[in-house]
Amino acid sequence: MKLLPLFFTVVTFVITTHVIAQEKVNPGGLETIRGASTIDETRPAESLKRVIKDKNPIARNYVHQPPVVPHQTRGYRVDTNSNKCLNCHSWKYAAETGATKISLTHFETRDGKTLSDVSPRRYFCSQCHVTQADAAPLVENTFKPVESLGNE
Ligand code: HEC
Ligand code: HEC
Repeated sequence: MKLLPLFFTVVTFVITTHVIAQEKVNPGGLETIRGASTIDETRPAESLKRVIKDKNPIARNYVHQPPVVPHQTRGYRVDTNSNKCLNCHSWKYAAETGATKISLTHFETRDGKTLSDVSPRRYFCSQCHVTQADAAPLVENTFKPVESLGNE
């Protein structure tokens, strides 16, 4: 009778080693811009970039670019109940906090109606506005920002 559990243990062991052997994946020599990595390997996350801390607004590169955020935003909540960004950037508080007011486009719905408060499509600020970090471009490019917006 005691042989039955032993039998199951051996069978489980054989199946497991077989499955592990099958999971070895051939990456086919592919390499991403973040380096080579095999599909069955979980790489450690990249370390966080150092975000610029409290700077004057940064010149925009082209007309209609969402300006980049010149300050830390870590821990600023934006959800159904509250929007930390609007505590400073709304028209109501901008004067006392010294933050740039959100522009009129942020009150417009997608059918061109102007609302009396921020439009839902402009509510989640970090969907378009990102913090600026001193990071080298991953891909070389020849883009030149327009001079009329304050770039040298
Ligand atoms: C405590 C107040 C405060 C909060 C909260 C805050 N900001 Fe700001 N933000 C400022 C101030 C002040 C400036 C202007 C910096 C200056 O002129 O020195 C600024 C600048 C900016 C700019 C640049 C505007 C421009 O004209 O270039 C953007 C974009 C921005 N913030 C987005 C955000 C977003 C998105 C959030 C939420 C994740 C946020 N801010 C939360 C105070 C705040
Ligand atoms: C769908 C994209 C999008 C979202 C979401 C969005 N913005 Fe913007 N934002 C823009 C663009 C594009 C501009 C520049 C052109 C303009 O004013 O519409 C801008 C401009 C701004 C400016 C500069 C205004 C000026 O007069 O120069 C501030 C400040 C700003 N946004 C803050 C915010 C805050 C705070 C939120 C969240 C409540 C937010 N934005 C959500 C796209 C967005």
